Amino acid sequence: MAEVKSNSAAPAERKLSWVEEVEEEEAASKSAPSWGEAAASAVDALAIGQGNFNSFLDEPQSNIKLVTTGDTPYISASTFEDLNLTPELLKGLYMELKFQKPSKIQAISLPMILTPPYKNLVAQAHNGSGKTTCFVLGMLSRVDPNLKVPQALCICPTRELAIQNLEVLQKMGKHTGITSECAVPMDSTNYMSFAKRPPVTAQIVIGTPGTIKKWTSAKKLGVSSVKILVFDEADHMLAEDGFKDDSLRIMKDIQRMSAHCQVLLFSATFNETVKNFVSRVVNDHNQLFVKKEELSLESVKQYKVNCPDELSKIMVIKDRIFELGENLGQTIIFVRTRHSAGMLHKSLVELGYEVTTIQGALKQEDRDKIVKEFKDGLTQVLISTDLLARGFDQQQVNLVINYDLPVKHENHSEPDYEVYLHRIGRAGRFGRKGAVFNLLMSERDQMLMEKIEQHFNSQIAQVASWNSAEDFKGALKAAGLL
Ligand SMILES: Nc1ncnc2c1ncn2[C@@H]1O[C@H](COP(=O)(O)OP(=O)(O)OP(=O)(O)O)[C@@H](O)[C@H]1O
Ligand SMILES: [Mg+2]
Repeated sequence: MAEVKSNSAAPAERKLSWVEEVEEEEAASKSAPSWGEAAASAVDALAIGQGNFNSFLDEPQSNIKLVTTGDTPYISASTFEDLNLTPELLKGLYMELKFQKPSKIQAISLPMILTPPYKNLVAQAHNGSGKTTCFVLGMLSRVDPNLKVPQALCICPTRELAIQNLEVLQKMGKHTGITSECAVPMDSTNYMSFAKRPPVTAQIVIGTPGTIKKWTSAKKLGVSSVKILVFDEADHMLAEDGFKDDSLRIMKDIQRMSAHCQVLLFSATFNETVKNFVSRVVNDHNQLFVKKEELSLESVKQYKVNCPDELSKIMVIKDRIFELGENLGQTIIFVRTRHSAGMLHKSLVELGYEVTTIQGALKQEDRDKIVKEFKDGLTQVLISTDLLARGFDQQQVNLVINYDLPVKHENHSEPDYEVYLHRIGRAGRFGRKGAVFNLLMSERDQMLMEKIEQHFNSQIAQVASWNSAEDFKGALKAAGLL
């Protein structure tokens, strides 16, 4: 066990953003204090993770720097037992989720979440490092099972992520009797008149901002007993081009109605703008951050491939990815627009390949079906807009293709660094091996790629020829996938 303590003082559904599209979508901040040295070294000393699949948690890249507010001492947890969880929750962790021990972010953040006076927390940790468990366990532990009203709220940017998080919560909380509900737009097959809906009695609600707002304003969701409010993908939830207005509104409504509500913000990315904003709106919080240069996953090998034209990009997918990737696991191909999603889908199907495609314009029930089929392993290759760039967790995904690179909405010459990181983080979950192929066609693509390399201070290897099977085999071998 390591003691982590520091004296430093102290982060419609419909807004178009990375989730949608027509063009789909450093260290301490100025106002934040410098890292507590003692705390940081205590964190570095933590060695969590075992076995080959989560070995990345031992690597230096997962050095999480933290700053605590006040003088509450936090003892990081090397086992789940250290967290004083109920036997029912331990059963959920060991028997339903089959976890053996906490990951690094879980070891550090859970004591902060669960120790009175229940301080707010802004927590950054790598993609696939187990952040969901931190806040799900936080919510389940803090709910009073005897009080049959909403006590914990978790807000997510997409329907898919809300559903996925609810599934994790229901598995983890299976033996607790704690009730939960998903607040996402209804699909037309289960349509029930909104006015006739009884008020929510579930103790934990996970949903998207638009629906949560709709339910609270219509008094279908009471928030006066909410004592823990979680934002998953928090940087996007508080970004100007994300869900900032909705998130602030929900936060304020709860703070007005409820005596003390702990706010938890989790994401793998927090850019400087959001970091600064967070320290203004969330007071008296503990913080955990990772430098952007240390954010790329070492277990996921990134490549760039020069393709002379659109057709060659399709041929790379057909001849290399389908042929070589077939026995490797599942693949996600990210595209920037719904239009290119449709075009690519059509081209591949015409060539006789089986793919499914998900994007925001599909009907809710179709989106749910496509995700379920992919999660059940019934489909191998999924084309997606940035709808699934964040949070989507499927351990079998070890190939990610960037059919085009993510760019900022307002300026297409500027990469969207955060979305890039989240996209490639769909592979290599919890330390697994993975490979990413960035398909580059124009000078602009080259320039975007260079900027991405500079930003994360990482050199991305080149696949020498787009039409050489040997080159791709070599790349996959180097990634440890062949
Ligand atoms: N302690 C643990 N032991 C084993 N597996 C774990 C543990 N914690 C989490 N996992 C697994 O790791 C995977 C990634 O977890 P999770 O989705 O919470 O990552 P994340 O940090 O939220 O990533 P992202 O930033 O991409 O959303 C999941 O499949 C989860 O079941
Ligand atoms: Mg997540």
